[in-house]
Amino acid sequence: MTLEFSGYAGLSDSEADARIRRARTTLGERLVILGHHYQRDEVFQHADFTGDSLKLSREAAASKAAYIVFCGVHFMAEVADILSRDDQTAILPDLDAGCSMADMANLESVERAWRELAALLDVENEVTPVTYINSAADLKAFCGDHGGVVCTSSNAGRILDWCYQQRSKVLFFPDQHLGRNTAYAQGMPLESMVVWDYEKPQGGLTATEIKEAKIILWKGFCSVHQMFQAEQIDNFKARYPETKVIAHPESSFAVCQKSDAVGSTEMIIKTVAASPEGTRWLVATELNLVNRLHQQFQHQNKSVHFMSPTVCLCSTMYRIDPQHLAWILENLVEGWVVNPIKVEAATASSARLALQRMLDISA
Ligand code: 13P
Ligand code: SF4
Repeated sequence: MTLEFSGYAGLSDSEADARIRRARTTLGERLVILGHHYQRDEVFQHADFTGDSLKLSREAAASKAAYIVFCGVHFMAEVADILSRDDQTAILPDLDAGCSMADMANLESVERAWRELAALLDVENEVTPVTYINSAADLKAFCGDHGGVVCTSSNAGRILDWCYQQRSKVLFFPDQHLGRNTAYAQGMPLESMVVWDYEKPQGGLTATEIKEAKIILWKGFCSVHQMFQAEQIDNFKARYPETKVIAHPESSFAVCQKSDAVGSTEMIIKTVAASPEGTRWLVATELNLVNRLHQQFQHQNKSVHFMSPTVCLCSTMYRIDPQHLAWILENLVEGWVVNPIKVEAATASSARLALQRMLDISA
């Protein structure tokens, strides 16, 4: 009988912390804990490896541990399952830790878009489907099956370059902002981009708009990053003109254009770390990471500020708490696997193709 979560829900953070440490010692090398940068500190401190989506997918692929506990969101644990061996198990401490952006594209709507595009274009020769890693496994499989590829926020530029060496157009889902910001940074004018509204027939576009576009951007977005506004940069700089601004590419075009640097969570950390002592940073990404950066670099007199005046946590990342982690690990100690993430074999095989293409291109 598995241990029920109800026995853990009332633990204080420090009680859960002590039990996590004890279970980790017992499990030893059979366990690896991966932690995304957006995880709260009480969970993040237990990670063996921390990183952005690309780095953590590499860690999952390289891990020898029997149990890969992913402190992140659902699509990340799916990637860990797809890239690990069959005798390894990926585990997500809370199955409700999803990603609202990933949910904005599903296989049915992407297949419909592909059919509608096929009525106007020779899709298999003209269009490369690209899915942001923030997507379900069956969309990665779709890309694998149609000569496409996965990208993350840290390799999207290289992935787009590769795509245009294969075919003349890209269908990019689910995040319009990452697609737009990346394509523009690679030199593509905004006029060559169209937005596919997945709730409308033919994406709400005319045949001419589709035929002339170089990149078709799915109308998805991150609810956390959409909170950042260009005026917030102006207001902050009016008070502190020396400020450097850095944004995650899920932020809007206007925010990224006003930023000194744009990049993945890992790149944001490296950039702040490498900046001269005393630098003041305004950062457009999730609050847990921004707060951690501020604490980490305070001693170098750097101050790191959150861009939005209102709190915007990733509420799904936040679902992973020390209580769930303690629950998962103590079950493993007892020989019970709770919350395993297992992608069905045929889907995993096609998705692996698209992920492997990504890893090879960004090696
Ligand atoms: P990174 O790959 O940059 O860590 O981004 C993941 C994510 O979900 C950002 O919202
Ligand atoms: Fe998804 Fe946005 Fe949360 Fe990232 S921050 S996991 S894109 S909802």
